[in-house]
Amino acid sequence: MAAQKVVICKELKAELQDFLAAMNYDKLFILTDTNTQVKCFPLLKDVPAFRNAPVITVEAGDTHKSLEQVSHIWSRLSNEGASRNSLLVNLGGGMVTDMGGFAGATFKRGLHTVNIPTTLMASVDAAVGGKTGINFNGLKNEIGSFYPPECVFIDCEFLRTLDRDNLLSGYAEMIKHALISSVDTYASVMLFDLDAEMDYAFLNRMVAQSVAVKERIVKEDPKEHGIRKALNFGHTIGHAYESLSFKKGNPLLHGHAVAAGIISELYLSHKLCDFPVDKLSQVVYYIKEYYPAFIFDCKDYDTLYELMTHDKKNEAGIINFTLLAGIGDVRINQQVEKGKILESLDFYRESFGA
Ligand SMILES: NC(=O)c1ccc[n+]([C@@H]2O[C@H](COP(=O)([O-])OP(=O)(O)OC[C@H]3O[C@@H](n4cnc5c(N)ncnc54)[C@H](O)[C@@H]3O)[C@@H](O)[C@H]2O)c1
Ligand SMILES: [Zn+2]
Repeated sequence: MAAQKVVICKELKAELQDFLAAMNYDKLFILTDTNTQVKCFPLLKDVPAFRNAPVITVEAGDTHKSLEQVSHIWSRLSNEGASRNSLLVNLGGGMVTDMGGFAGATFKRGLHTVNIPTTLMASVDAAVGGKTGINFNGLKNEIGSFYPPECVFIDCEFLRTLDRDNLLSGYAEMIKHALISSVDTYASVMLFDLDAEMDYAFLNRMVAQSVAVKERIVKEDPKEHGIRKALNFGHTIGHAYESLSFKKGNPLLHGHAVAAGIISELYLSHKLCDFPVDKLSQVVYYIKEYYPAFIFDCKDYDTLYELMTHDKKNEAGIINFTLLAGIGDVRINQQVEKGKILESLDFYRESFGA
């Protein structure tokens, strides 16, 4: 799988235009959702290559990351003369880059795609790394493919219109990237004040650092046979929290569930791999400062454990954790006994007083 190019933009419009001018395609299409059409597309309207380009707009929200919407995208592409040599520009959050990537991967066995992420989650995670997909049969990301875009253009200017909850959601993946990478990245992420007035140029530099962590890991192991599992840190328990929150009818954003998962999995890392306790306390303090508590009680423990046993990353029915022995010291394929897992749920609740 070829690695995609990632451009951390200083002058998005100019950089985009230069790239597009040098690219050989016959027709350009733009995919947005109903929010990014209004909030993000106007920032790019006067890019010369975008003039007169058909804009395909899907409903916003993850429930629309569906086969019906993919079918709508395919129909538009087909009816408006797209060929294998056409270009689909995905302008949006992870929902748009995942679904546009998948529609692009499958239309005439694959046309060219470019991602322009407009959420923090998409900038540091979803738009990069080549995983595309849609939800199906009530299951998240059940259908998909590995299909990297030709290029990803990242510019935090888009985040000016993003709400705080979605900003925090993306930031959780930056905390994860910091924990699995280096002490320097970790220090900058822990020092960032999410309550201060946002300096988007500074955030763009932090995003560059964060996305480089994912790029490096994906390059080493594109199809997740080994070290790419590092990117699952916080996600085994995080996904269980996310699913429980849906069952309780009070859905958490993915990154908020991951932040809670990071706390539980750092506890396991401390108990089983000697992750230093001072760093554990520091991360708990940071997450508590900014993220709302996820409320559950011990009656939910069986459901949470059951949800973990169904995680699609498990092999032979064994719950597979990625843990840390220190910042940047990743241990994949860790099996953890049930008692310890339940303790880590206690730890989250006690940390939050929840
Ligand atoms: N492929 C991967 O490796 C990968 C990794 C992580 C997440 N994902 C996927 O990404 C999706 C989540 O991505 P997300 O968190 O970006 O959600 P999202 O794309 O649904 O965006 C969240 C909300 O913000 C709105 N929005 C987007 N940009 C905006 C802007 N600049 N200003 C104002 N509003 C804006 C959207 O319309 C939506 O309502 C999930 O489907 C998840 O499965 C994929
Ligand atoms: Zn995630």
